[in-house]
Amino acid sequence: MGWPAHQTVEDTRGFLAFSESHWEQWPAGSYLAWSRETGALLGSTGLLFETPLRAMTGYVFARDAWGRGYATEALAAMVGVARTVGVLRLFALCHADHRASARVLEKCGFSLEGTLSRYAEFPNLQPGDPLDVLCYATIFENASGTQRENCS
Ligand SMILES: CC(C)(COP(=O)(O)OP(=O)(O)OC[C@H]1O[C@@H](n2cnc3c(N)ncnc32)[C@H](O)[C@@H]1OP(=O)(O)O)[C@@H](O)C(=O)NCCC(=O)NCCS
Repeated sequence: MGWPAHQTVEDTRGFLAFSESHWEQWPAGSYLAWSRETGALLGSTGLLFETPLRAMTGYVFARDAWGRGYATEALAAMVGVARTVGVLRLFALCHADHRASARVLEKCGFSLEGTLSRYAEFPNLQPGDPLDVLCYATIFENASGTQRENCS
């Protein structure tokens, strides 16, 4: 992840304040994902807008929820939201060795655009040492939101 694991309730309050201000400014923001069967909190996803036409997405799920397709379902939902609100470029960055995350992006029709060398810090892995990331994106061709590549 591109942020340090929260150590205190204040860390989480800080994120919630950021999330609320983002929702006030943009048509979408952070989401929580819940189990339909049990109601348990599974993880989180969302859209982070850079401009009205360009947004970044990502996802994080609890370890005991991995391997059940939830990240793919969450990302597909974010593709739908992005399309609906008129985003043209939806992109995501992931650690260069993160095969599971890359696979999730590819399953949802994202294309690998390249490697950004020494681009992003992963504070839970190597604080203060930017690492290589893969840049994936999906482009919506027009205002009707046709995705160049569809989810498989
Ligand atoms: C990465 C993460 C989101 C995946 O969530 P998930 O719900 O397990 O993902 P899904 O089940 O939807 O899909 C995972 C896919 O990756 C594949 N996969 C898993 N581990 C893999 C590996 N080591 N190498 C290649 N593919 C792998 C799975 O087989 C599956 O593909 P398939 O459906 O074709 O079989 C989850 O591990 C996570 O939350 N990790 C911590 C936070 C994080 O890393 N977020 C991403 C930051 S970029």
